[in-house]
Amino acid sequence: MKKLITAALMAGLLAAGGAQAQQTVKIGLIAPMTGPQAAAGRQMVAGAKLYMALNGNKAGGKTVELIVKDDTGVADITRRLAQELIVNDKVAVITGFGLTPLALAVGPVITQAKVPAVIMVAGTAAITGTSPYFVRISFTLPQQTIPSALWAAENGIKSVVSLVADYGPGIDAQDAFKKKFEEKGGKVLEQLRAPLLNPDYAPFLQRAKDLKPDALMLFVPAPQAGALMRQVMDRGFPQAGIKVIGPGDAFDDEQLNAMGDGVIGSVTSYNYSAAHDSPENKKFVTEFKKANDNVRPNLIGLGGYDGLHAIYAALEKTKGETDGPKLLEAFKGLTWTSPRGPVTIDPQTREPIQNIYIRKVERKDGELYHIEFATYPNQKTP
Ligand code: PHB
Repeated sequence: MKKLITAALMAGLLAAGGAQAQQTVKIGLIAPMTGPQAAAGRQMVAGAKLYMALNGNKAGGKTVELIVKDDTGVADITRRLAQELIVNDKVAVITGFGLTPLALAVGPVITQAKVPAVIMVAGTAAITGTSPYFVRISFTLPQQTIPSALWAAENGIKSVVSLVADYGPGIDAQDAFKKKFEEKGGKVLEQLRAPLLNPDYAPFLQRAKDLKPDALMLFVPAPQAGALMRQVMDRGFPQAGIKVIGPGDAFDDEQLNAMGDGVIGSVTSYNYSAAHDSPENKKFVTEFKKANDNVRPNLIGLGGYDGLHAIYAALEKTKGETDGPKLLEAFKGLTWTSPRGPVTIDPQTREPIQNIYIRKVERKDGELYHIEFATYPNQKTP
């Protein structure tokens, strides 16, 4: 008898403990806060923290706690941190992923644990196919790049050389550009790939210039944009009459002002510009700069902000229920007005459907901005 009471008491205590703990929903954000991709981590975490500062720490009736971990941009560390966050911290969802290999590393972990992972940045199309628990709020490179190929073909550009970082998103961008551009009658003269780590762009840029294309199409992950663009400008591509085009990553908004006047006139395609003209974006940019020493948000900062929005919205839908499969379902079909414009998470693919804008670099109020002038509305990832 005594034993039974003790067991019942124990069960009760455990249940009470469990219920208490469940008043808090933990979110694990894994980002490269140090190392060569630290600029991505800074933007992502700043965006996520800004969302919470502006919207409070309650969602679906629960208190939200954000746990930030630094993976230094190394995939093995991302995987270990994901395991620790799930097993030890009992997070309901993990998020972040500043680079494709960092997202790919957690696929098997989230599938096994049935914990949703919200991709804030990584843009290789194939990532979401590697686990049914991935949800992407950011973009894919084919989605970002195809409007550039259409725009180039329709605006007198007949020949292109592409130069990309040699990994998933670069190859996606290069392939998507070539396919669409050549379908429309253009010719890609050569597809160049520079190493992702410690790249020396000089030989590739020399080769590109020697081929005398109408345009040079570029992709590198946003944190590397400044280093590439300085060399592109030093080599005088615009002066040689070679237009510099592509998705917006190599023209990163945070570093745009440091790229110099050579970048003025560049036309690119992208889901987000800090100059996007909407009340949601004015508020986002103003508050982001206020909280971050006047640093301009880029699409990675936006990813942090929108990632937290999606997690809050999913928790509202489940009324705070954090069971993995139920929470995963709640992300599907989410729709909201982001600082970039309207976004819907495609329930079939778990990919964002969003506008892709054609923008031109212009000087406005003494600063360089991507000024949007055409829209490809509600683009799915192909
Ligand atoms: C990626 O690694 O998938 C990635 C990173 C930064 C970008 C775009 C894609 O700007």
